[in-house]
Amino acid sequence: MTETRELKFSEAAMAEIQRYISHYPEGRQKSAILPILHVAQAEFGGWVSPEAMDLVASILNIQPIEVYEVATFYTMFNLKPVGKHVLEVCRTGPCCLRGADQMIELLKQKLNVEEGGTTADGMFTLKPVECLASCGTGPMLQVREKFYENLDSEERLDQFLETLRNSEVETPYHQLSDLKKD
Ligand code: FES
Repeated sequence: MTETRELKFSEAAMAEIQRYISHYPEGRQKSAILPILHVAQAEFGGWVSPEAMDLVASILNIQPIEVYEVATFYTMFNLKPVGKHVLEVCRTGPCCLRGADQMIELLKQKLNVEEGGTTADGMFTLKPVECLASCGTGPMLQVREKFYENLDSEERLDQFLETLRNSEVETPYHQLSDLKKD
């Protein structure tokens, strides 16, 4: 099992990581950095701490700064602890034309959080992001691997939040279907 300070990946996660690394030629293991960061995020509570990034760097035998550069570039990696459900809300032009700004304002009011914030009960994190490639069905947002579209009324938004509040969600990496493929 690979370790850095107190963090370590489970045996199952390490097997997955080794599988990603095996996709690339010797000396090119860094190419597996994105899927490995996804494994790290799912494995360590939905975010990648500096310790988690250091661990990824040690596995890939690269400098920690190389991992920090990637993790801080992509919005899909959370750099601080997040709530049970991360609401990744599209705020790019086409969705704004269909009411994304109003949806974000409503979410801020209903959840009593600012952008990037997490609710006091730890249930939701509100995270505006750029285009999620579902421009025709805005306003929309993504939670984990699922899109929630046409959230164009307060009633729909309330239904959506209620659905999430009542859902049982775990975040081990092996439940993320995209990490089980290829
Ligand atoms: S602009 Fe919102 S999904 Fe593309």
